Amino acid sequence: MKDDNVLDIAKRRGFFWPSFEIYGSVGGFYTYGPLGALLKLRIEQMIRNHYVNNEGCLLIEAPLLSPEDPWVASGHVESFTDMTIECGKCGEPYRADHLLEEKTKKSTEGMSLTMIKGLIKKNDVRCPRCGGPLENVYDYNLMFKTFIGPGKNKIAADLRPETAQTTYMPFRRLFELGRKKLPLGVIQFGKSFRNEISPRQGLVRLREFSQAEAQFFLDPENKRKHSKFDLVKRKRLSVLTKHDQVRNKPGNALEASGLVRKKLTSEWIAYFLAVSVKLFEDMGIDGSRLRCRQHKDDERSFYSSDTWDVEYMSDSYGKIELVGIADRTDYDLKRHQEFSKQSMEVNIEGRRFVPHVVEIAYGIDRPVYSVIESCLRHDGDRTYFSFPPTVSPYQVAVFPLVKKDGLPKKAREIQKTLLDAGFYALYDEGFIGRLYYRQDEAGTPFCITYDYDSKKDNSVTIRKRDDQKQIRVRIKDIVNVIGDIISGRVKFEKAGKLLK
Ligand code: GLY
Repeated sequence: MKDDNVLDIAKRRGFFWPSFEIYGSVGGFYTYGPLGALLKLRIEQMIRNHYVNNEGCLLIEAPLLSPEDPWVASGHVESFTDMTIECGKCGEPYRADHLLEEKTKKSTEGMSLTMIKGLIKKNDVRCPRCGGPLENVYDYNLMFKTFIGPGKNKIAADLRPETAQTTYMPFRRLFELGRKKLPLGVIQFGKSFRNEISPRQGLVRLREFSQAEAQFFLDPENKRKHSKFDLVKRKRLSVLTKHDQVRNKPGNALEASGLVRKKLTSEWIAYFLAVSVKLFEDMGIDGSRLRCRQHKDDERSFYSSDTWDVEYMSDSYGKIELVGIADRTDYDLKRHQEFSKQSMEVNIEGRRFVPHVVEIAYGIDRPVYSVIESCLRHDGDRTYFSFPPTVSPYQVAVFPLVKKDGLPKKAREIQKTLLDAGFYALYDEGFIGRLYYRQDEAGTPFCITYDYDSKKDNSVTIRKRDDQKQIRVRIKDIVNVIGDIISGRVKFEKAGKLLK
């Protein structure tokens, strides 16, 4: 659904908006409002629950700012660059390779700075903003640099561009805490920072963004098999391999087991592709728009031997990478070993080695946007977000039919009961049609109304967002009923007396 409405509604209903608005805003910074902050929190919770509870990951949290040394070791200080070009007239900076691709409709993958410069000249690519000449192509480092402390002894520092390195640095400690066993999974949630050249894609390209990165430390001699692969082997995935891309083929639908059988990737990577696609679908992202794409050899990061992205095909922004799954080999730990002079070797049954790492790197802001875009529905005059109750900012809203005769007090009591039972429950009051309209645009799946009959029959009406059907339920059963319909254990129509 191509829909400028997504951004309009997101802004109007307070999901997110450009930061620093009163000072004119700066590209690449967004503020989450009350609904967006809750939606983001719940998406993070889904990822956290899966990786901590089901995959047994240790959860850690490291500083966002660090001395420069780790980023020299990781290669970011030298290689974390984008090709930049500036307009000679208005000074606007651009990604040189992107501008060239837009003009020629051909990939620039693997091209050097000099080649790009030559082709920009040959194709007469000009500034999209003012038509001025483009000049001065250079490699621009995306790290945000600063200092720790004052004076002569101040320390050169960087804001982290990924959480990954801040999980690798304490590997020795984590290995001890994980009882010296491999595989060892560690996950970290938090902000990272990239000084993007000219971000204009809302939540999809931010200079300050949220990540959830799981790192699995593996024995290199025992790294192809995943012990739980059978659980996902039948999951159907839309797959575009590096060979498909080189040969200009459209890709295939394959079961996760097919990826391994055809030797397209390892069980570890296939397992987490399937897990990630399932997680995204459970969040409400349209599964028919998800694709598992392997990085081509000339595209892959310097640290990786095999990388795949799960991409979402967005109406507003084209393909969006939601998670990157990479076999980072022993590159990072060996670099930290070399630069810090601290051993990263483990000793398992007499074998000494530096573990390999498989990384599952989720952006959080992009899934938030993709959930919002996928869940926008129009039904006649009605607009609503069909968020699943697992991620909706509120799972249930409670209203009094009118703001008098003691009805608000009773409705608030029901909200409190639901909050105490652990549901995300909201109270609101006003004209009932308007209240439903507001909750439809907030994506709240169920609304409860306490009316005049409630006083007599000790029951309330529950309205389902998606089809507006209503059931009548006894107040004493409300916690169980809401639990049953949210979890899907009981069909809404069977959970109470269906009203015509
Ligand atoms: N850690 C991988 C990434 O940030 O893309």
